Amino acid sequence: MNSRRQFLTASASALLATTVSRANPKTFPYAEFEQRIAKKNFTGMTKDMLPTPCMVVDIDLFEKNLKTMADYAKKAPIYLRPHVKVHKSVDVAKRQVALGAIGITAATIAESELMSNGGIKGVLWTKQPASYNNLLRAIALTKKDPTFMFVVDDHDVAARVQEAAAAAKVKARVAVSVYAGLTRQGIANGKPALDLAQKIATSKNISFEGYMAYSGYASHTHGWEARRKKSAEDLAGVNETVALSKKAGMEVKIVSGGSTGTYNMDHELGLTELECGSYVFMDSVYRKVGGKTNDKVYTDFENSMSVLTTVDSKHHAGQVTTDYGNKAMAQLTDEVKGQSWLQVDKQGAEYGLLRWKDGGGEIKVGDRVEIYCSNLDMSTNCYDRYYIAKGNDIVDVWPIMGRGGAAQR
Ligand SMILES: Cc1ncc(COP(=O)(O)O)c(C=O)c1O
Repeated sequence: MNSRRQFLTASASALLATTVSRANPKTFPYAEFEQRIAKKNFTGMTKDMLPTPCMVVDIDLFEKNLKTMADYAKKAPIYLRPHVKVHKSVDVAKRQVALGAIGITAATIAESELMSNGGIKGVLWTKQPASYNNLLRAIALTKKDPTFMFVVDDHDVAARVQEAAAAAKVKARVAVSVYAGLTRQGIANGKPALDLAQKIATSKNISFEGYMAYSGYASHTHGWEARRKKSAEDLAGVNETVALSKKAGMEVKIVSGGSTGTYNMDHELGLTELECGSYVFMDSVYRKVGGKTNDKVYTDFENSMSVLTTVDSKHHAGQVTTDYGNKAMAQLTDEVKGQSWLQVDKQGAEYGLLRWKDGGGEIKVGDRVEIYCSNLDMSTNCYDRYYIAKGNDIVDVWPIMGRGGAAQR
C-alpha cells in the first residue's frame, strides 16, 4: 500500500465486501442478463444484481444434502426414488440419479411427462389415472417409456387401465396404493389390498409391481423416537398386506414410501425404497421436526435454498417493506437467514414486511435479505428458475418446470 489513493480504494473494497454490495453495471451489463443466461455465461454475475424476489440455491449445501441422503441409502441399504414435487427440476433430478437414485417420484402426470421427456428413467407417479385424460396420458407415457410406473387404489380404475393398455398394446406397470395413515388415498390393507393386487396381477396388460404407502403424518411428527413410532404404526398394515401377498405366491418388487423425516428409519420398517423430496433444499417448517441427535432442530439436512428479497421502503418503526409478498408465497412461518430478529409478515400481492420488536439490528432500504420458505412445493411453484450460487457468485441457472397452466395439469 504505497499511496493514499490505493489505501482508499482498498478500504472501499473491504467495506463493500462486508456490507451489502450493489450491482456493478460495469462488471455485468444488466441489458445482457437474459442473453448471458441463455448462453450459460455467468462471468461477473453475482447475487447482488439478481431481480427479486427470486430463488437462490447454495450449491455447496445442496450437494451436501444430496450426498448425505445418497450415502445413507447405500449404507442402509434402501433404494432411493426421490420426489420431484419440491423442486420440479430436471437438473436436480439428474444429480439425484447420478448419485444412485433408481428413478424419481412425481405427484402429477404432467410432472411425470416432464421428467421422462427430460431423460429421467424409473418415474413413479403416485396418483391414479382417475380421469380419461390422465388415463390416456399414462398409457401414452408407458408406450414411450416402459420404465414409467403409476399407482391404482380402485377396482374400476384398474379395469380401465387394463382396457386402455390392451387397446394401446402395452403392458402398464402398476403398484397398488395402500393406506398408510393418510386419508387422502390408498385402499385398505389386508384382504381389500390383496384382492386389488391379484386383479392387477392377473390382468393381461398390467404388470403388478408392488405397493405404494406414503405415511404423510409420520414425516412431520416432532422428535425422532415419536416419528419412528408413528411410521411403524402407519406401516404395520402395509407389512401385513405384503406378507399376505407373498403367502399368496405374488412377487412384490417394491414397497415405496417414506419421506425426508423418516429416511433413516423406514428401511427397518418394511419399505424397499424411499420417496424423500424436501431434503434437497429443506424448509423452515421441516427444520423444526427434530432429528436423532437434536430434538429441536432437524440438522440432518441444510437449508440450501432461499428466496432473495429486497428492502423497498422504511418509514415506520419496527418494520421494513420488501418485495416478498403474497405472489411470492410469503408465509408467517418463513425464516430470515442469519437474522433471527426479523419476522416475516404479509402485506399485499407484491409487498411483504419484515418486522422486529425492540432492539433489532441494522437494516436499510436496498438491503438484500434471504428467506427460508415454509413449504417448498408451494413456493417453487411461484418461481421460474433457480439461480445457483457459489458464495456470492452465480454459477448456473436451472429452470423450474411445469409450474402453471397446462404444463402443470
Ligand atoms: C406421495 C409422497 N411421497 C413422498 C413425499 C415426500 O415428502 P418429503 O418432502 O417429506 O420428503 C411426499 C410429499 O408430499 C408425497 O406426497
